[in-house]
Amino acid sequence: MASPYSARSRDIEPFHVMALLARANELQAAGFDVIHLEIGEPDFTTAAPIIAAGQAALAAGQTRYTAARGLPQLREAISGFYAQRYQVDIDPQRILITPGGSGALLLASSLLVDPGKHWLLADPGYPCNRHFLRLVEGSAQLVPSGPETRYQLTPELVAQYWNGDSVGALVASPANPTGTLLHRDELAALSAALKQRNGHLVVDEIYHGLTYGVDAASVLEVDNDAFVLNSFSKYFGMTGWRLGWLVAPPEAVADLEKLAQNLYISAPSMAQHAALACFEPQTLEILEERRGEFARRRDFLLPALRELGFGIAVEPEGAFYLYADISAFGGDAFAFCHHILETEHVAITPGLDFGRFKAGHHVRFAYTQSLPRLQEAVERIQRGLRSWQG
Ligand SMILES: Cc1ncc(COP(=O)(O)O)c(C=O)c1O
Repeated sequence: MASPYSARSRDIEPFHVMALLARANELQAAGFDVIHLEIGEPDFTTAAPIIAAGQAALAAGQTRYTAARGLPQLREAISGFYAQRYQVDIDPQRILITPGGSGALLLASSLLVDPGKHWLLADPGYPCNRHFLRLVEGSAQLVPSGPETRYQLTPELVAQYWNGDSVGALVASPANPTGTLLHRDELAALSAALKQRNGHLVVDEIYHGLTYGVDAASVLEVDNDAFVLNSFSKYFGMTGWRLGWLVAPPEAVADLEKLAQNLYISAPSMAQHAALACFEPQTLEILEERRGEFARRRDFLLPALRELGFGIAVEPEGAFYLYADISAFGGDAFAFCHHILETEHVAITPGLDFGRFKAGHHVRFAYTQSLPRLQEAVERIQRGLRSWQG
């Protein structure tokens, strides 16, 4: 029967991992001990000073809409954060507070994409990006990206895939699902490639702060015209508070504000008040400790998986993901994920959730579990490999 709903809603794919998650939850409800390595969310609860600031805001009755651009004091705090972390001067007027990085993506795609136009996106990549584009009647030009470019777009790939309908490129550094970065010179080269074509460069920096042994450069260090989205979800550990931001060139802000007013009126008020505590030294200290913990997990899981035969060609420098090639074991990644879940009760995400390019041979591990749980997961996966008949 034909769907009574819109073509755009039909075209948007669900997260394939949700079927796995449902099964994982069933197993859990039946009493099995499931290790969840499929979830892209820090396992830590929000740091205590942020929760306290949120509670104080509620007690003080901060329950109303804020301005569509967000609380001025939060935009100033973010501007201060750019000055301190990246030595760049970002006028708070250029910062819009959004409901999560997702809200920033919605604003950017609504502003920059007309029907029929597209952005270049690396494949594999964060799946919602192409769905946001579909929602605004544009589309994604997926660019197959492998280990040779560290799964990132390059000026050469831009030249190869750009056509008359291209209006920009969206990149993520660090990226989901690969954890790879675009370094300062690479961001500058991409920026030049886009400028040469009058295209927009949008950079998703939501995993900034979660890099190990290296600091991520912001594209704003090399390109003042780029659009940057960021979030309080990952480094700041506030996934459920739904808060992010967008930095835009000054001339785009009035249009973005208009879109924000219409799309969601304002980001959550109490979350914005809570987020003011993010930039306090005592909070940053907690967040840096957590960063250290993620680094220890990566340093354990990466060699352990390689040892088992998973192909991780590029050392991820950030986020909390490992994107692994399972070709050595044979078979399809989706079936592989089911096998590991059913036999060993470890949940991981199939490559299909991140695009098409070699997706059937890849899986993503999220190291959002404690070290002992990761150790246990590796033992179980080793056992699961013995019974896998790919
Ligand atoms: C690359 C990337 N961008 C954006 C988001 C959106 O996150 P949020 O809306 O919680 O900020 C995610 C979430 O996992 C992500 O991985």
